[in-house]
Amino acid sequence: MKIVFARDYQDMSRKAANIVSAQVLLKNDCVLGLATGGTPVGLYRQLIEWQKKDDISFRDVRSVNLDEYVGLPPEHAQSYRYYMNRTFFDHIDIDKANTFVPSGLFQDAAAECAAYDRRIEAFGGIDLQLLGIGNNGHIGFNEPAEDFQMNTHVVDLMESTRRANARFFGGDLEAVPRQAITMGLLHIMQAKRVLLVADGDQKREVLLRALRGPVTPKLPASILQLHRELTVVCSCTPF
Ligand code: PGA
Repeated sequence: MKIVFARDYQDMSRKAANIVSAQVLLKNDCVLGLATGGTPVGLYRQLIEWQKKDDISFRDVRSVNLDEYVGLPPEHAQSYRYYMNRTFFDHIDIDKANTFVPSGLFQDAAAECAAYDRRIEAFGGIDLQLLGIGNNGHIGFNEPAEDFQMNTHVVDLMESTRRANARFFGGDLEAVPRQAITMGLLHIMQAKRVLLVADGDQKREVLLRALRGPVTPKLPASILQLHRELTVVCSCTPF
């Protein structure tokens, strides 16, 4: 595990973007596992800047996102497909046909989940998985549970997660969906490299517990301690 302490949000975003950029330079048709949320916005902004300068190209890159809210169509402003398009894909040279976000609209949850796992397997797995971390230790929407959830699955979001994300829904907790579909821990752990970003001291305690505490499904991010190629880039007070 390598932990990089950044000075501030901008420094964190730039350092993390350097790692993603290096991955794309080394393997132009790599499979990126991508994340949403507030933390990676600066990272995406930096990658867009480098792409516009022609320093990097995403032409052959394929991507799989971690998660999506159940019930939100792709054109919904709070859906993660919409986030990815507006925050990143619309501004770079990636072929959107090669970008995948789980669908929050499905008839058969089990079939949708299995198909998402098969897609990742057909890609040969993920080269670099980008992750944020929730205040409750979730990665993707793998919420604290009695067991590690290995496969893509539909999850009931915890109240604390819905509260944390209400800010994206104009502060309206009732508008935040109660369920999500998320990649499980298997494909995250099988990614060749994992890059976890965390901003500020508000994430320091959960990061400490995840990286230095016991490995437990009650804190899903703690499983990352077992990953061979984990890089954490964070802008909290060093520990
Ligand atoms: P955030 O979310 O980047 O908006 O803090 C992280 C997460 O919940 O995974």
